[in-house]
Amino acid sequence: MPNCQSIPSRELLIKSQSITIPSPRPKHYSALSCAQCPPLLLYLTKMDLLLLEKTLLALFLAVVVAITISKLRGKRFKLPPGPIPVPVFGNWLQVGDDLNHRNLTDLAKKFGDIFMLRMGQRNLVVVSSPDLAKEVLHTQGVEFGSRTRNVVFDIFTGKGQDMVFTVYGEHWRKMRRIMTVPFFTNKVVQQYRYGWEAEAASVVEDVRKNPEAARNGTVIRRRLQLMMYNNMFRIMFDRRFESEDDPLFVKLKALNGERSRLAQSFDYNYGDFIPILRPFLRGYLKICKDVKEKRLQLFKDYFVDERKKLSSTKPTDNEGLKCAIDHILDAQNKGEINEDNVLYIVENINVAAIETTLWSVEWGLAELVNHPEIQKKVRDEIDTVLGPGVQVTEPDIQKLPYLQAVIKETLRLRMAIPLLVPHMNLHDAKLGGFDIPAESKILVNAWWLANNPANWKNPEEFRPERFLEEESNVEANGNDFRYLPFGVGRRSCPGIILALPILGITLGRLVQNFELLPPPGQSKIDTSEKGGQFSLHILKHSTIVAKPRSF
Ligand code: HEM
Repeated sequence: MPNCQSIPSRELLIKSQSITIPSPRPKHYSALSCAQCPPLLLYLTKMDLLLLEKTLLALFLAVVVAITISKLRGKRFKLPPGPIPVPVFGNWLQVGDDLNHRNLTDLAKKFGDIFMLRMGQRNLVVVSSPDLAKEVLHTQGVEFGSRTRNVVFDIFTGKGQDMVFTVYGEHWRKMRRIMTVPFFTNKVVQQYRYGWEAEAASVVEDVRKNPEAARNGTVIRRRLQLMMYNNMFRIMFDRRFESEDDPLFVKLKALNGERSRLAQSFDYNYGDFIPILRPFLRGYLKICKDVKEKRLQLFKDYFVDERKKLSSTKPTDNEGLKCAIDHILDAQNKGEINEDNVLYIVENINVAAIETTLWSVEWGLAELVNHPEIQKKVRDEIDTVLGPGVQVTEPDIQKLPYLQAVIKETLRLRMAIPLLVPHMNLHDAKLGGFDIPAESKILVNAWWLANNPANWKNPEEFRPERFLEEESNVEANGNDFRYLPFGVGRRSCPGIILALPILGITLGRLVQNFELLPPPGQSKIDTSEKGGQFSLHILKHSTIVAKPRSF
């Protein structure tokens, strides 16, 4: 006789619908035959049975539909290899949430340079070879030039009213054109480089003034964050923040931080992958909406409207030169874009420009602290080429090849956006001999392209010399498909033109003015990584000892 305990309890059945009702069933009950017990069904009310029946029927239908679709698809499409998906969940339960560059590299080793995962209802295609990267980003750049958004990015970008997360098409072309003149030309670099040099000088001065920095160390990142905000807010609004305690800076930083945390988290994957679970995300999405509204309101009230007021009284500022928002507002006045688009441009610069560059400076500093011989070589190069104490400026970077190699090596080993920003094909497409269903999310594992031992000599080593020796022809602008820290092609990073000089000035000035060391009692600083939906930064902000040099 079967044991009563082996029968699923009513509590369990009902718990699966998130309701718990105490079971009236005696402990020794057996559904099949137990002389002392009435049959199980007598304990379920008519309502329960109806609900149970409906749930089972819905589940049965979902499985049948999923199998039929996957059979049909299998017939019609030759899909890339990958683990076998199960109905409803796909591969999600097998591969988990944290699809970072390292986990995706492990899957590439198993399934090949192109593989596909089914994450609930979403297709995810990962490419991991330079040839396939070229196909996605260059040869079929139009076909794969759109972006996927998920439920959270839909909120933060107003369903693609911005530039970074909009599909490839007329709106993207217009936004990219409008943003180019105010942000992404050499003229902008020449106009603002003095400001960036002044900001770096101010960081050096503040660290010098802090005796604790030379003794037990300081989290230089905090001060560098203010510097990066100032570098970008000078370009955008011809504004800067006086100190880390400036209330407007504190508010802005908190809202930007909250936006990044909410968007990069894996916590909302379930509702994104499986639409029927979306109601459970209601609370999360409400927080996202609140943060988004507060942020856009802050951009409008304190920056855009302030600038409008200023330019209505004085035609131009900054010795007659327009700042970026003046150009953007001109485009709005001409009717090319609307007020929301203006705010989303400000939003995009806040997320795309500031933290990415800051993470790269942070990684660079960590590697320099952990490799004192490399740090010394950078310092010696600057002292020899410019003279001790002569402060690095933007045009000097061209004369400092070792400093440039350090920056390239940082961006190779510690890529801030290791999977690029996800791409997407709007229509069914072909890639590497496989069919890619429309609206698949395409990830290019740029980190693995630049860290695959089949293509690089000892890639795990931080060795800037490689960019002066065997890889001396490789540039960060995508001239080699093994090395794409800024992507390449239509959706590549237009900010590279600003990021490289800012990195050069900042790292150059810090190394020439300080000896940078781990805190007392530590031989190295911790370089554990923290990844998000597509970001990679250092897990713990490093405390660094900065001993001032005297000239
Ligand atoms: C070290 C710093 C930076 C790194 C590593 C970086 C990296 C990237 C990467 C990998 C992409 C995606 C490329 C693709 O999907 O194919 C991207 C896109 C973008 N970046 Fe950067 N970026 C940096 C700094 C900046 C700065 C300073 C700005 C602006 C001032 C900027 C603005 C953008 C924009 C607007 C896009 C979207 C382009 C589009 O979708 O058409 N980035 N960046």
